[in-house]
Amino acid sequence: MLRPSFSAGVCLVLAMLAAVCEASPVFYSTKLGPRRTTHFAQCQAPKIGSGNPLAGCPSGTIFVSKTHPAAMFRTISAALSALPDNGNTGTVLIDQGQYHEKVVVTRVSPTVMLGVTPDISSADSNRVQVWQSSYVNQSDVTSVLHNCDATVLGVGNGGAIGNSNFKAYNIDFAQRQFFNGQEVTEYQLGPAAALCVQSSNASFYGCGFSSYQDTIYVGADSQAFFFKSIVKGMTDQLYGSGKAWFEKCKLLSRACGGGITAWRGDPTDPLVGVYISNSIIAQSPDASKAKPMVGRCHLGRPWNVYSHAVYLNTFMSDIVADAGFRIWSQATPNFAPKLTRFAEHGSSGPGGNARVRDTTLETILSDTAAAKITIHKVFGGSTPWIDLATIKNSSSG
Ligand SMILES: *[C@@H]1O[C@H](CO)[C@@H](O)[C@H](O)[C@H]1NC(C)=O
Ligand SMILES: *[C@@H]1O[C@H](CO)[C@@H](O)[C@H](O)[C@H]1NC(C)=O
Ligand SMILES: *[C@@H]1O[C@H](CO)[C@@H](O)[C@H](O)[C@H]1NC(C)=O
Repeated sequence: MLRPSFSAGVCLVLAMLAAVCEASPVFYSTKLGPRRTTHFAQCQAPKIGSGNPLAGCPSGTIFVSKTHPAAMFRTISAALSALPDNGNTGTVLIDQGQYHEKVVVTRVSPTVMLGVTPDISSADSNRVQVWQSSYVNQSDVTSVLHNCDATVLGVGNGGAIGNSNFKAYNIDFAQRQFFNGQEVTEYQLGPAAALCVQSSNASFYGCGFSSYQDTIYVGADSQAFFFKSIVKGMTDQLYGSGKAWFEKCKLLSRACGGGITAWRGDPTDPLVGVYISNSIIAQSPDASKAKPMVGRCHLGRPWNVYSHAVYLNTFMSDIVADAGFRIWSQATPNFAPKLTRFAEHGSSGPGGNARVRDTTLETILSDTAAAKITIHKVFGGSTPWIDLATIKNSSSG
């Protein structure tokens, strides 16, 4: 992630990870529930032969496809541009295929993006991929850089008001790295978000987010909710300064850099933070072969001293470090007892042993304390931007 005074600051904070400020790129170091049927299942189902692709969709849905003769637009960006910002919900159905574009949602009105899929209950079945190959080059001191310069999906464009109610279903968002004409998968080139949420309220169901450094950013004044989604990254996979809740997600590491979370907390709002619940942490099937991972991935590191990260009932494979959390860096620890709030409850699996944790850095929550941390408490009473029906309908998963 980036800081205002970028070159010195970032080089300093990343010095521990590797010599990012030198010339060359650097090495850094389920079970899901039964099928669910929502109001979008029929809309998202692949239609056979000449079937109407919009059968079962909300009226007014816009259809995007690279190949289908009934497509109204060939790119997602063009479809979004066609939606007036008139307070009504705009729905875009995206046909199976690869979309090489950066998508930025600039409208404030409720917006739904649906991916065509044979199985809405599992992100593993997704057939829609939106991809980019952009990254922030931290060696290039001449660039003016912001956290969301490189992203695949932007919800909100950096203005004071973003989207009030954004939902995406069964879509993969991927950053792919290319350097000197070659695809790079063994190390990271620089910060590259798959998703940037800015001044918005957004939720995601059965989506995939993959990158190498800084995969998901949820900025200040933002709230984001993720359900049965898959996140892949090498360093600081989940970062930001808003509120984010991950429910029944898979957090897959491609290498162990930074922390799985790198959050910036807010002393005026103790609920700001990142919450990971009923999820799975494991090595990604496409992890870097260059670096050993067993026991080396940390649950989080503090982007500022008020950092707040909570893990509830999460399965942790053997990649998770015994200590659990870590400080930011030796030069900039960003840690203070009482101010920095790292917590865990009910972790399981070979990397989830509470008895080996560094309890000077984190708290192992009691059952009572953990039970008080709920989606409702974190986001408040009215959350039209979360599809509670979908969550409830697969609650046994
Ligand atoms: C919940 O699932 C059932 C059975 O699959 C289905 O009939 C119903 O429409 C679903 N409800 C919602 C709100 O998704
Ligand atoms: C980053 O920028 C520097 C300086 O402009 C350049 O030498 C280097 O090749 C770039 N690195 C990458 C990975 O693009
Ligand atoms: C997001 O929801 C909160 C209430 O939880 C609200 O205060 C805020 O204005 C919403 N954001 C937008 C961009 O509508």
